Amino acid sequence: MDNKYRTLGEFIIENQASFQYSSGELSKLINALRLAAKVVNHEVNKAGLVDIIGGAGDTNVQGEDQQKLDVLANEKFIQTLKNREIVCGIASEEEDDFISINSQDENHQNKYIVLIDPLDGSSNIDVNVSVGSIFSIYRRITPVGTPVTLEDFLQPGINQVAAGYVIYGTSTMLVYTTGHGVNGFTLNPAMGTFYLSHPDMSFPETGRIYSMNEGNYVHFPQGVKDYIKYCQMEEGDRPYTSRYIGSLVSDFHRNMIKGGIYIYPKSSVASNGKLRLLYECNPMAFLAEQANGKATDGYRRIMEIQPTELHQRVPFFCGSSKMVEKAESFMAKYA
Ligand code: AHG
Ligand code: MN
Ligand code: MN
Repeated sequence: MDNKYRTLGEFIIENQASFQYSSGELSKLINALRLAAKVVNHEVNKAGLVDIIGGAGDTNVQGEDQQKLDVLANEKFIQTLKNREIVCGIASEEEDDFISINSQDENHQNKYIVLIDPLDGSSNIDVNVSVGSIFSIYRRITPVGTPVTLEDFLQPGINQVAAGYVIYGTSTMLVYTTGHGVNGFTLNPAMGTFYLSHPDMSFPETGRIYSMNEGNYVHFPQGVKDYIKYCQMEEGDRPYTSRYIGSLVSDFHRNMIKGGIYIYPKSSVASNGKLRLLYECNPMAFLAEQANGKATDGYRRIMEIQPTELHQRVPFFCGSSKMVEKAESFMAKYA
């Protein structure tokens, strides 16, 4: 079939056989995430119309202001996954602890767990700027039929079976990988159908965009400060262009298409940076590597880090391989 007319539903079915443990369970799970994406998309699109924007007056486990849409997106994702009884556990950036799901059907013993950042870039919601959702899927380690434990969630990123994001931008897209490259699907809002619009997505080997919150410059490690100066220097294809949306999904998506690097380093005020290893860095690292890019903490491959806690943070350097390697070379000088 011409790629132009291939829907996400068809793509999932066609590619089911390529999964390592093909039983249809992962396909059902991705279908459920597809549905959740449409539901959250609907909520995001009416954010400016109804009284759901602004703080919910609650703070999440990491002490950040929780926006109402964060809560809503969290509920929608969890509810969609629970209703379909296709996972045995869920962990969310917005929940203090992981959720264990006991299937009603004794014979239906699910083996997948999902980790989600239901609404990424929440500071952009009430100013009508692109936000996203991120998901990461693993097979459980503990035996099926027993309740999931923390161990099932604290797996290194290399164990991911699938990962992806939804970007609620000028169009809504779902971009994901099951370890066989990265494909992007654009939602046709009139039909409510995702179409394969970006087959085989790939980071250009190098690019001219650097994305970081330079307002924090004084707090950055010397290696990052030096790399920023390198980006700004007039030489060869430099100075580079600075682009920072403040929603990882959107910054990553642009850099993957155009070529670029995203950095959220550690700083003198945040020793591990800000981004969460399990909900943000691992899924984006899996996508980056599947799209010929790189993701490290400045020194180590993100996906090889052994997590020790659910809401762990980690410095993040991600994007075009040559650019990440260049930034790492500056970091190495002060290691
Ligand atoms: P979230 O909205 O899920 O809390 O994530 C926001 C993250 C990430 O998406 C973004 O790149 C970064 O925080 C922005 O942080 P700063 O405002 O510190 O630059
Ligand atoms: Mn986030
Ligand atoms: Mn979030």
